[in-house]
Amino acid sequence: MTNQPRTMPSTPDRPTLTLTQPDDWHLHLRSGEVLRHVLPYSTRHFGRAIVMPNLQPPVVTCADAAAYRAEINAALPAGSRFQPLMTLYMTEQTEPAEVQRGFESGEISAVKLYPAGATTNSAAGVTNLQNIYPVLATMQAIGMPLLVHGEVVDSEVDIFDREAVFIEKKLQPVRAHFPELNIVFEHITTRDGVEYVQSCDQYTAATITPHHLVINRNALLVGGIKPHYYCLPVAKRETHRLALVAAATSGDKRFFLGTDSAPHLDGAKESACGCAGIFNVANTLSIVTEVFEWAGALDQLEGFLALNGAAFYGLAPNPNKITLQRHKAPLALPEKLVLPAGEITPFDPQLDLHWQVV
Ligand code: NCD
Ligand code: ZN
Repeated sequence: MTNQPRTMPSTPDRPTLTLTQPDDWHLHLRSGEVLRHVLPYSTRHFGRAIVMPNLQPPVVTCADAAAYRAEINAALPAGSRFQPLMTLYMTEQTEPAEVQRGFESGEISAVKLYPAGATTNSAAGVTNLQNIYPVLATMQAIGMPLLVHGEVVDSEVDIFDREAVFIEKKLQPVRAHFPELNIVFEHITTRDGVEYVQSCDQYTAATITPHHLVINRNALLVGGIKPHYYCLPVAKRETHRLALVAAATSGDKRFFLGTDSAPHLDGAKESACGCAGIFNVANTLSIVTEVFEWAGALDQLEGFLALNGAAFYGLAPNPNKITLQRHKAPLALPEKLVLPAGEITPFDPQLDLHWQVV
């Protein structure tokens, strides 16, 4: 990071921070072997997570979500009270009645909108937003959040501009049509995204990932191409990263953590056509706490990690607490995960981390 840490207030030798247990408002858990290997990294720190539905095939019905929830629950470490919050994958065939039934029964927390072709497993997503207006009308009426992957897919739009163009061409028309629809603009990566959310009222919020708080596009492209820094939306210029840090640390309740932790086997990332996605939950809390410390905003950390997202989703904060302790020496990076099918590389934030969950 190019911004310098502010001086820490005078603290005891090993300062600690105790916070309400965090939630992860955007998480890819996958299924099968990968699910079983990555899930413990979420359950050891987080109380709940919004689980993304972009499996193959995608989670499109309440029955699909129930089966996926059962698979996650069966993979939970013994004694874990982690709660997966399930989502449906929006298609142009999604039925308003299915969405309403899922939300009102408590089985489904939100619906995820992927523009078709925008990212990993998004081929079944939406091309013409007007085709989902009946579903959005129902969601607005019942207060169900729409989670948006905010990038256009037009080949003539530069990949670094896709979020900004999405705001103007796609999000603003939806917002104008549905002024009281709860919208989470997922994993924002630009100053444009921050300013858009700030310009809205309480019906719009945004998740921010740990990686977009600490890397810019240089991490991906300088000194060789680094596939483990490739995710979508792709990391942008430093000015955008600084805008994300300012938003996350500002205390504005419309910004909260969504890790977008998205594991892929190394073979799929280190490839001539590598997959987008960064596996970061092994050190998310250390990274975010370090960023807030640098920004002189540790007093806003609990809001970003544990309060703002729950409030937006109309949920009570978790009853439990977690404690982070600051070590003098930098922490070691998390080890690679070794699966029968290959390895998964955890995110290396390229900066020293000192805060560890006790
Ligand atoms: C995600 C994935 O791998 O499922 N990848 C990513 O780069 N973030 C999909 C997504 O959230 O865009
Ligand atoms: Zn994602």
